Amino acid sequence: MRMPLIAGNWKMNGSLSLVEEFGRAFAGVSLPVNVEVALMVPFPYLGAAAQALGETAVMVGAQTLSDRPAGAFTGEVSGAMLRECGARLVLVGHSERRALFGEDDAAVLARVQAALHEGLTPVLCVGETLEEREAGRTEAVVLGQLEAVVEALDATQRPRLIVAYEPVWAIGTGRTATPEQAQAVHAALRARLARHDEALAAGMRLLYGGSMKADNAAELLAQPDIDGGLVGGASLKVDDFLAICQSAG
Ligand code: 13P
Repeated sequence: MRMPLIAGNWKMNGSLSLVEEFGRAFAGVSLPVNVEVALMVPFPYLGAAAQALGETAVMVGAQTLSDRPAGAFTGEVSGAMLRECGARLVLVGHSERRALFGEDDAAVLARVQAALHEGLTPVLCVGETLEEREAGRTEAVVLGQLEAVVEALDATQRPRLIVAYEPVWAIGTGRTATPEQAQAVHAALRARLARHDEALAAGMRLLYGGSMKADNAAELLAQPDIDGGLVGGASLKVDDFLAICQSAG
C-alpha cells in the first residue's frame, strides 16, 4: 500500500564523476519494481544528475530550498529553479539545517510551503538529540516538529508530504536506532497523523534515517511503520546504496 522510498542524501559530498558513476550503475541494474529511489544531490549537480539518471527510475532531489519565490536573496535557490533543473523532491528541516543554519519550525514550514507551491515533494525531517532522548522527550520533540508543519497545511497539502525520522544521535555516528526504537517513534508519528485523518496516516510514508547501511537496512525496513530510508554516508558508495535499494524490495 505504501511504496517504500529509499532516498540518498549526499549532503555536501560527491562530485560530477560520482554523479556519472551512479548514472552508469543504475542504468545497468533492475531495481525492485515496488521500490522508489531518489538521490538528493548538492545544487550544482542537479542538472547533471537529472541527465545521468534520466533513463533510470531514480528520481533526483535537492537538500533544501529558499522560502522565497525569487528576488534579491543572494546565495539562495528557489523551488522553481530546483524543478527546472530536474528535482522532484526536496529535503526540508534536516537536523543539520536546524542545528547549523538556524532553521526553526517556522522556517521549516515556510520551506515546505514553498516546495508544495512549486509542485515539489517535501521530505520533512524530524528527530531528537541524544540529550532530548535521555530526558524522555523524544516523542514531544518529534511530534512537535511534525505538528508545526502538518497543522498549518490544509487537507489537500498534507498527503503530499513525506516524513523522515532521523534521530540526531544516529546521524553519521554509526550508532543506528534499533528497529524497535525506530518503530516506536514511527508508530507515534503515524498515530499523531491519524488524529488529523486516518487515511492520511495510513498513506503517509515515514522514512528512517541515521546510519542506515546495507547490513542493517533489511531489519529496519521490515518494521511495519518504516516505509523506507534516508541514507547519508552509505549513499555515496554506489554498491552500498544499490544493496539498500535491493533490500527494500
Ligand atoms: P548517515 O546515514 O550518514 O548517518 O546520515 C543520515 C542522514 O542524515 C541522512 O539525511
